[in-house]
Amino acid sequence: MRWDWRGLIAGGLLVAGGAAAEPDPVRQAELLNLLEQDCGACHGLTRKGGLGPSLLPEALADKTDAALLATILDGRPGTAMGPWRPMLTEGEARWLVEQLRKGPQR
Ligand code: HEC
Repeated sequence: MRWDWRGLIAGGLLVAGGAAAEPDPVRQAELLNLLEQDCGACHGLTRKGGLGPSLLPEALADKTDAALLATILDGRPGTAMGPWRPMLTEGEARWLVEQLRKGPQR
């Protein structure tokens, strides 16, 4: 199934959630590893920031899920934040945003 995330946002499905399936537990573990290792290379192992800004819940409090999702999927042109769309589905990126909202669990 192909999802156009812009359409999802426009349709408000993003807020309703659950429409695009959550990654399965194996993929969730992979994604958490990606968050720690790959994202962590710039945002810090504990998400406190480094080359990239802090991704802790406090730091993201005033940003919308849609903005964070767009940044993860498409990156920020002209900055070190690259697009992760080639590596992540929209559902996976949305799950990562949920993890960022929750904060590091260990
Ligand atoms: C090569 C370094 C690098 C990597 C790897 C990287 N980022 Fe970033 N990221 C940045 C930079 C730099 C910014 C700030 C861009 C700007 O100045 O607007 C940023 C911004 C962001 C933002 C927006 C934060 C805000 O305050 O608006 C989010 C969310 C984010 N990154 C998530 C991720 C996730 C999730 C990953 C892994 C899938 C990741 N980043 C990997 C460098 C990186």
